[in-house]
This record gives sequence, C-alpha cells and structure tokens, in this order.
Amino acid sequence: MCLHKRALLRAGLLLFLLHLGACLDDCVLCIVGQPVVLPCLYPELNTFGNFSIEWRKNDQKLLRSQWREDGNVEICSLNYARIPYDAAQNGNFSLELPKVHPKQDKMNFSLFFSAGEHEATQLCALCLRVAASFSAPELQSEETADGNETTFLCLSGGGYPEPVVSWLISDSLQPPEGSVRTLAEPHPESHLYNITSYLTLNISKDSSVTCIIENPSMNETLTATRYGESRTRAVGRASEAMWIFSTVLCVVVGIMVMVGVAYQIHLDRVTKRRKKEKREEQRGYKRKFQFIEETEAMTEDKKETDV
Ligand SMILES: *[C@@H]1O[C@H](CO)[C@@H](O)[C@H](O)[C@H]1NC(C)=O
Ligand SMILES: *[C@@H]1O[C@H](CO)[C@@H](O)[C@H](O)[C@H]1NC(C)=O
Ligand SMILES: *[C@@H]1O[C@H](CO)[C@@H](O)[C@H](O)[C@H]1NC(C)=O
Ligand SMILES: *[C@@H]1O[C@H](CO)[C@@H](O)[C@H](O)[C@H]1NC(C)=O
Ligand SMILES: *[C@@H]1O[C@H](CO)[C@@H](O)[C@H](O)[C@H]1NC(C)=O
Repeated sequence: MCLHKRALLRAGLLLFLLHLGACLDDCVLCIVGQPVVLPCLYPELNTFGNFSIEWRKNDQKLLRSQWREDGNVEICSLNYARIPYDAAQNGNFSLELPKVHPKQDKMNFSLFFSAGEHEATQLCALCLRVAASFSAPELQSEETADGNETTFLCLSGGGYPEPVVSWLISDSLQPPEGSVRTLAEPHPESHLYNITSYLTLNISKDSSVTCIIENPSMNETLTATRYGESRTRAVGRASEAMWIFSTVLCVVVGIMVMVGVAYQIHLDRVTKRRKKEKREEQRGYKRKFQFIEETEAMTEDKKETDV
C-alpha cells in the first residue's frame, strides 16, 4: 500500500518533469576545438531510488549512467562524453564534450530518464551550432593577358560554416554580374572551409576593391581592400602637404622663439638702462640738494660774517 503511494507520487513527479523538459529546446553555439557543456539540470531525480539516464546524439546512445538505491553507480560512455561525477547529488546531468568538431554541427543531443517500469522520458534536448573564425583575407591582383582586365583573388580559410563572400568596388558598388566566382572547399578531415574568390573585370587603376567575408555564426565580417592609385597618390599628396605644413610650423615657431628671446634681451637692457638712469637721477637730485644746502650755508655764513 505504502509502496503504491510512492509509485504514484513518482509518476506525478515524472509528469511534472516531462512538462519542464518541453521548455528546454535550444541551440548551443560552440567554437571548433573548444570544449562545450550541454546544460541539463534536474535536482528532483535523486528522489528516485533506482534510476538511469542516457544521453543520445541523434538517437544514438552516447552515455548511460545508472544509480541504485544502495549508492551503486554504473556509467558507460563513448570515451569523449562525460557528465559530472556528482551528477545525482547535485542534479547536474550536463553533458561535457571535450572538443567540438564541425561534424557535430546541427546535431541533436537529448537526455532520457528512466525509473522502474516507466518508459524512458526525454528531459533535455539541445542542438549544437558549430562555428570557427576565418583567417584575415588576403587580396591579390593580376592583370590578364589582354591587358584591360584585372583578376583579383581573395583567399581565406580555417572557418566554419561556409561564409558569405562579396565584393565592393570603390567602397559602394556591387561588381557586375558574372564577374565573381567563389570556391568554398571543406577540408576532408577538419571540415573547415578554404575560400578562394575571383573577381575579374575592367577597372581603372584609381578604383579601390574590397573583398568581404561574412560568418554570421561568429558575428564576424572580415575585409581586405586594395586602394586605387588615385587614393595612394592622394595619400602621398596629403603626406607631402603635412610635411610642408610641419616644416613651416617649425620655422614659424623657431622665428617666434628667436623674436621672443631678442625681445626679452631688449627688455632686460631697457630696464637696466632705466635703473641706471634712475640711480643717476637720484644722485643728481642729491647733488642738487647738496648744492642748495651749500648755498644756504654760504648765505648763513655770509650773514654771520655780516653780523
Ligand atoms: C532497486 O534495484 C534493486 C536491484 O535491482 C532492487 O532490489 C530494488 O528493489 C530496487 N528498488 C526500487 C525502489 O525499485
Ligand atoms: C553543471 O556542470 C557543468 C559541467 O561540469 C558546469 O559547467 C556547470 O556550471 C554546472 N551547473 C551548475 C548549475 O552547477
Ligand atoms: C586550404 O588552404 C591551406 C593554406 O592555404 C592549404 O594548405 C590547404 O591545403 C587548403 N585546403 C584545401 C582543402 O584546399
Ligand atoms: C574589357 O575590355 C576589353 C577590351 O577593351 C573587352 O574586350 C572586354 O570584353 C571587356 N570586359 C568586360 C567584362 O567588360
Ligand atoms: C553575436 O551578436 C549577438 C548580438 O549582438 C549576440 O547576442 C551573440 O551572442 C553574438 N554571437 C557571438 C558568437 O559572439
């Protein structure tokens, strides 16, 4: 009777878990060569005495783990897939994959739970989205035999998935139809793409040409630009102008400094002269004063002599 109740309770919990599992469909973005964790948290599971979980990759068994009431655990897995060793205690059944490969792109991973006679129930379902950065594009150009046409080559590699390659002429114009040919080759083992894009057209040497490689999965837009000759000439002219400007500036500053120094010297001289003059003036005043005193004394003397 008591056992029966427990079984009912578990059935109810299972329904509850099922309901939760339905919300978890999602894609996990991961970078080629890096480890990834596919999250799956179910703390309620350890209330079941005997239970097992199974991670599946596109319905293929990847890892199975069984817990018993007596604490016994059995895990069997393909060597690279793991779950935390304390999964049952913490309810963290997340799948750990050590290294992501482009082969796993868009694969579905799901966790199934089973206890007693109940059928296996899917609790977590996630898909992988795999991406890798492309190398900085390299732009080459060569004139074709007839001399008027130029072929531009844009090279990049090591990225995933296949990128969107486009070209721009003079920063804004789409190249004419039929002038672009792009080859995207996945490497047979790594599955990473090598990109070679050709742009062949009649173009003046003054126009700039830009190759653009977009990898939306990585939020990545890489560009390489060949600037036209007018631009390089303009840059040349600009730097020449800068050079002249800075030279003129140096000369002007130099002259100003010299004038300033000369003026300072002049000022010094003027103040010195003024001081001298003042001193002399004062001496002159004193002399005058003395002269007056002397004359007064003389007149007094005179008076005295008169008396
Ligand atoms: C758990 O498994 C063991 C061994 O298979 C069994 O003896 C026990 O009755 C099981 N317990 C439950 C609650 O099913
Ligand atoms: C669950 O385990 C994974 C892998 O060990 C870990 O990265 C993650 O942080 C854990 N989550 C929680 C909520 O503990
Ligand atoms: C990709 O490019 C690299 C370097 O440019 C080269 O070594 C490799 O062979 C290329 N792979 C393919 C599949 O073309
Ligand atoms: C480029 O110019 C050459 C000679 O002027 C002409 O034969 C060729 O058709 C032109 N190509 C394009 C794509 O306009
Ligand atoms: C790309 O950008 C979006 C929005 O800015 C962001 O949510 C997403 O995480 C980014 N992806 C990567 C791989 O950086």
